Amino acid sequence: MRAVDIIQKKRDGIELSKDEIHWLIEGYVAGTVPDYQMAAFAMAVYFKGMTTREISDLTMKMVETGEQFDLSAIKGIKVDKHSTGGVGDKVTIVLAPLVASFGVPVAKMSGRGLGHTGGTIDKLESIKGFQVERTQEEFIKQVQDIGLSVIGQSDQLVMADKLLYALRDVTATVDTIPLIASSVMSKKIAAGADAILLDVTVGEGAFMKTIEEARELARTMVDLGNAVGRKTIAVLTDMSQPLGTSIGNRLEILEALDILQGKGREDVTHFICELAQIMLELGGVTASLEEVKQHLTAGKALKKFEEMVLAQGGDLEDLYRPVQVKEQVPVYAEEDGYIAALPAMEHGLFAMRLGAGRAVKSDDLDYETGIVFAKKVGDPVQKGELVATIYTNLEICQKNIAEFQKNVKILDEVVSVSEIIEIVS
Ligand code: URA
Repeated sequence: MRAVDIIQKKRDGIELSKDEIHWLIEGYVAGTVPDYQMAAFAMAVYFKGMTTREISDLTMKMVETGEQFDLSAIKGIKVDKHSTGGVGDKVTIVLAPLVASFGVPVAKMSGRGLGHTGGTIDKLESIKGFQVERTQEEFIKQVQDIGLSVIGQSDQLVMADKLLYALRDVTATVDTIPLIASSVMSKKIAAGADAILLDVTVGEGAFMKTIEEARELARTMVDLGNAVGRKTIAVLTDMSQPLGTSIGNRLEILEALDILQGKGREDVTHFICELAQIMLELGGVTASLEEVKQHLTAGKALKKFEEMVLAQGGDLEDLYRPVQVKEQVPVYAEEDGYIAALPAMEHGLFAMRLGAGRAVKSDDLDYETGIVFAKKVGDPVQKGELVATIYTNLEICQKNIAEFQKNVKILDEVVSVSEIIEIVS
């Protein structure tokens, strides 16, 4: 076989055989298919798509290109969760201990942030001492001991995705359903959980800009998971504005701590509790929304989170420390009305430029910086009222504030928002 023939076939919209897909992925991981041919292939997929059968063959071949975790030593139904990326997304930091506080084991591998999106692992690393690198044995032992561990994705998992994702990132081929579905599901399948909750984000700050696209991605991933015996449910969730009130690593940990104590904003708290209900159901536990919320207010989820922080070397005293930055810059509303839009991508990029995120993989992070919103979409606001505070170690000039204010859209009429848009099972 020759890579050029496979690329040409895909370019011309012809379905590839299982053997051709296997040959290409094996060659890519072995280094015999070079990056430039794989980039051409990814672009052909971007324009011509893949059939369900092709996506399934690609995903399962990718799973084989690395270590596969065996979680069978952990009793109970192990449930994993994955988000397709967002701004201010601290869901895992609350959801994982919340679900674990009901006795459902959570063994989760998470990723780092890139561009306008944040990553759970960076947020956890902003806790002094917190270790995100664990061997398979340590990871399993911690889940056996306390029912919860969130670690960074093993370097040995799905080598094809490691290579291909980096390549897609620099060749404008990330946002295509076959490649996102195979990337996410190969990692989830290799990570070994019995059941998977997928948070498919939709809107300005997400890869999927429309509900139709998000629905198709969700359906593709749910079918892939179910086909290999992993009970999979997807939830389409709004990412037109940042999730919750904060963007930035330590700022999001502090917001997560508030939510874990039942002191978070009602909308984000309710949303995470709804996700917890679904994840618990996947884990064989039925709980009412009230019962789930009660685990927050009674401190049960917080206790589980603190146990995880301690077990992974984190400093509990430092955990609750306020952020330390040179300057806190307030941003005020320019008119009366209702907040109509807070574009997630724009605010994610603003936070990234403060040092809260990475423009390229090798960038260092400033864990302390970011944005805290005092108002979210739908909230009434008066001219001169505080809309947000920028936490920065860099100099912020009037031009930066004006740029921020441009991304706070205020209208006369109230705009309604819903975090969960649809469930695909
Ligand atoms: N998240 C992933 O893990 N892979 C993608 O391709 C997109 C989002």
